[in-house]
Amino acid sequence: MPSSWRERPAAQQPDWPDAGALERALKTLSTLPPLVFAGEARALRQALGRVATGHSFLLQAGDCAESFADFTADSIRDKLKVILQMAVVLTYGTGVPVVKVGRIAGQFAKPRSADTEVVGGVTLPSFRGHNVNDDAPTLEGRTPDPGRLIAAYHQSAATLNLLRAFTKGGFADLSQVHTWNQEFVATSSQGRRYEAFAGEIDRALRFMRACGINLGGEQSLHQVDFWTSHEALLLGYEEAMTRRDSLTGDWYDTSAHLVWIGERTRQPGGAHVEFCSGIANPVAAKVGPGGRPDDLVSLCDRLDPQRLPGRLTLVSRMGAGNVGKELTPLLRAVRNSGHPVVWACDPMHGNTFNGPGGRKTRRFEAVMAEIGEFFAVCRAEGVWPGGVHVELTGDNVTECLGGSEDIAADQLELRYTTTCDPRLNARQSLDLAFQVAELLR
Ligand code: PEP
Ligand code: CO
Repeated sequence: MPSSWRERPAAQQPDWPDAGALERALKTLSTLPPLVFAGEARALRQALGRVATGHSFLLQAGDCAESFADFTADSIRDKLKVILQMAVVLTYGTGVPVVKVGRIAGQFAKPRSADTEVVGGVTLPSFRGHNVNDDAPTLEGRTPDPGRLIAAYHQSAATLNLLRAFTKGGFADLSQVHTWNQEFVATSSQGRRYEAFAGEIDRALRFMRACGINLGGEQSLHQVDFWTSHEALLLGYEEAMTRRDSLTGDWYDTSAHLVWIGERTRQPGGAHVEFCSGIANPVAAKVGPGGRPDDLVSLCDRLDPQRLPGRLTLVSRMGAGNVGKELTPLLRAVRNSGHPVVWACDPMHGNTFNGPGGRKTRRFEAVMAEIGEFFAVCRAEGVWPGGVHVELTGDNVTECLGGSEDIAADQLELRYTTTCDPRLNARQSLDLAFQVAELLR
């Protein structure tokens, strides 16, 4: 049942000061329209099933945490642009279809390693995402406010509405391939390489038209399927958004097409696993270092008892240098268990450190190194390297070090705007896509 998680220990839940206000907010949410439909979640499960069998590749990308402060048409459009660019590079560069999933339209809540932090000598509750509290370091700002859950729902609805308009209404038409290259990207070496790709795609389309193929009727050239996802962290919110599908009778979490369980909340007897085991959406789980192979197989049994390809994605986040040692036994155990999971690589969360000035950062080279190790380990074990899961933005930020523009430690302060973890900027993201395409070839 959607509420059965309440009988289990739920890690990482905010300390809401007013239980009555929380209950009222959740009640309201349970009466609001769903954000996605069950049939869409099933279509994503099928698309991921083709990833599980080695016929497609998953690109899951977006903010670490969406922000109430950065909520504009431009920022949504620019994130979509860079994801579309990356998908074109991967598809055209490898001939493998790409399943595009955003960390978007609901990716607010953040797990934290400590419940409190000390700012200027004052102990404050940690920032847990804009659907819980404010990042401003004041006691008032940091006090969890259930009204934010409702605000997050409405922001998710508006974001999803714009994404649907962009992806189905002409913006994602392959004839627009040049317009996704933003100016600050186009002048970089990756941007020029992308332009060359886009020119070749134009030529290919002209060639097909000249051969008499009616491209106007080919829907897949004019629209893309773009799916939403977030970490199912705040279980009260996810429960309130869970509805029974009238067609199948199954429960679907209608807050997103796919939800995942984070590294800090995947305890087999915990509330998050219980909740996700009961919804029929495709689900994912992060898999960090130190896990035991038999525990991971039990998690697969729990989350995918019917062994449906595409139902479960495992997202490895080991850190560069650790993948061979940590992932190999897990890949083997899951493969031998027969669970048809998608294996994806999150090269971000195992490579985070505090740079100068205390800014959280990551090195682009470490991100690429982890992806390289992931591909090598998958190849060695005969497992399809099914996808990448990255934190990025369409903006020209300076949050991750290195890359071809070689962002240096003293440049982090220039444009560091993330509300949580450091994101790849659009140039670094495109660079990553070109390098992943090479690995995939
Ligand atoms: C995240 O994806 O932002 C995150 C917190 O990841 P993980 O659970 O893998 O640490
Ligand atoms: Co993150």
